[in-house]
Amino acid sequence: MARLAVNVDHVATIRQARLAKYPDPVTAAALAELGGAQGIVVHLREDRRHIQDRDVEILRQTVKTHLNLEMAITEEMINIASKIKPDRCTLVPEKRQELTTEGGLDVLKQEDKVKEAVKRLQEHGIEVSLFIDAEPEQIKAAHRTGCEVVELHTGTFADARKAEERQSAYEALVSGAKLAASLGLKVHAGHGVDYSNILDLRKIEEVEEFSIGHSIVARAVLVGMVQAVRDMLRLIQLGY
Ligand code: PXP
Repeated sequence: MARLAVNVDHVATIRQARLAKYPDPVTAAALAELGGAQGIVVHLREDRRHIQDRDVEILRQTVKTHLNLEMAITEEMINIASKIKPDRCTLVPEKRQELTTEGGLDVLKQEDKVKEAVKRLQEHGIEVSLFIDAEPEQIKAAHRTGCEVVELHTGTFADARKAEERQSAYEALVSGAKLAASLGLKVHAGHGVDYSNILDLRKIEEVEEFSIGHSIVARAVLVGMVQAVRDMLRLIQLGY
């Protein structure tokens, strides 16, 4: 059964909207764990628009399950990760203007750079995941870098409006997950996963972990973090 890792970036988004001390993503992470989250995820962006360095430092000390740091492949981020040593780093593409991560990392285009980053992080005992689109050539390139995990980008599936687009995005995820698993990679999935589309995504057997942020934080604003995490876990585990 797939695990649920909760991304608390958007708790920090609310805090940063007023440059306040609350709500604290560290508190949200503790509540998510109380609700049953099996991992905590944060994205330390270069522009620090939500998560701050201090959040990652404290989370390293307080997270009891598993801490996954999403980051761009930059010298600054590799240095921060090497010092803080999260359990896993997920390498993502990053553009300053984007509202959120817009697509998977283009591993094919920068294979040597990605390979070098994977190696440097692994030398610090950090497991490395690459966030990629479910395209066979990207999956094979990810495998060649020596990473342990691929997180398949579910955004295209989540955002599809037409039934045919949704179906073809789903089929790409299913075959991508099979290919990655056959290469010995652990398969995770995330981006745009919500309380509705999880019912299809949970059927992809190879997926060991879902990384979910926005939909859970949005529900938590209304019903509380513990309840929001329990609701998602029930869907992942029981399907209703
Ligand atoms: N996985 C990755 C690699 C991401 O960049 C994000 C967004 O930060 C997520 C998962 C979570 O996406 P969402 O907030 O849409 O659930």
